Amino acid sequence: MMTATTSDIERAAEVLRAGGLVALPTETVYGLGANAEDPAAVARIFQVKGRPPSHPLIVHIAAAEHLDDWVETVPETARLLAEHFWPGPLTLVLRRGHRVPLEATGGLETVAVRVPDHTVALALLSAFGGGVTAPSANRFGSVSPTTADHVRTELGDAVDFVLDGGSCEVGVESTIVDVTGETPSILRPGGVTREDLEAVLGRSIGVPSTSHVRVPGQHPSHYAPRARVVLVEPEKVVAEAELAQGLGHKVGVFVPASFADAPVKAHAVVTVPGSMDAYAHDLYGFLRELDQQGCDLIIASLPPEDGLGLAIANRLRRAAGPRPSR
Ligand code: TXA
Ligand code: MG
Repeated sequence: MMTATTSDIERAAEVLRAGGLVALPTETVYGLGANAEDPAAVARIFQVKGRPPSHPLIVHIAAAEHLDDWVETVPETARLLAEHFWPGPLTLVLRRGHRVPLEATGGLETVAVRVPDHTVALALLSAFGGGVTAPSANRFGSVSPTTADHVRTELGDAVDFVLDGGSCEVGVESTIVDVTGETPSILRPGGVTREDLEAVLGRSIGVPSTSHVRVPGQHPSHYAPRARVVLVEPEKVVAEAELAQGLGHKVGVFVPASFADAPVKAHAVVTVPGSMDAYAHDLYGFLRELDQQGCDLIIASLPPEDGLGLAIANRLRRAAGPRPSR
């Protein structure tokens, strides 16, 4: 791992000022950053990702105290959540402030904002001085990058500068909370757990079911590897994998930790860590690894949907797409 130096950070800030694109590490996944106030630079993000222009971006800022510069008003709930979880894997959706161009919000009158918890990202944001819009640095619909190498492999020369900050600690994206209405709601589960949010808010908070998708940009088959993903009950993972392998598929299998003893007849086998922190950290790397090994089918089961397991299950469901699971 080559961590970015101070001069790398200065150079990256220059690239942003000149309207270029910088890939930056965050604690969740790598982002593809541009000056949030430069509509042409923002437009390039969509072009490089192949992302429809109606899909809004997250504005990254250096500290919670700058939030007021980017939004119309900051409700008490937003203030409370920012105070508790920033810097950290929480994104707040608020009413858009004048500084945010509609190009960055996909035409919405709301804007998503977060303060990432990564020294390199924070150093860049401070050196640059403004807001940086950054979606995950992958092509639209595919697996998010959690190392600088993932970014280089996937986007290559389309990015003007890549800041290396090592492998992302959390490994899944931020939790997105809509705080524009009377009651806050989770639009996308992520690195801050529902339980942690509820503890701070002192109330329960709603999470949309994956079949009832509300977040713009969350289309079927998102976070998806090239291989088809099929979700089955944990106790059926091994049998289903061997069956599909026998039918001629190149099967990659996510074997749950509790079933890891027996050898599995499959093209590639990954033993899923029992700890949800470790699983989230490794999830996207596993999916990329199985693609690299040439698998055409990935058989996995969902983890328990509490804590970080909620975000992991959400990503696996989204990767599997709308197909019926067995
Ligand atoms: O952890 C993360 O959030 C990473 C890192 C790079 O910060 N970023 C990320 O960005 O995941 P992206 O663009 O891949 O996903 C952003 C999500 C999209 O699903 C988008 O629809 C939602 O945020 N979003 C952005 N602005 C929104 C808004 N105004 N209202 C509702 N959803 C919004
Ligand atoms: Mg993304």
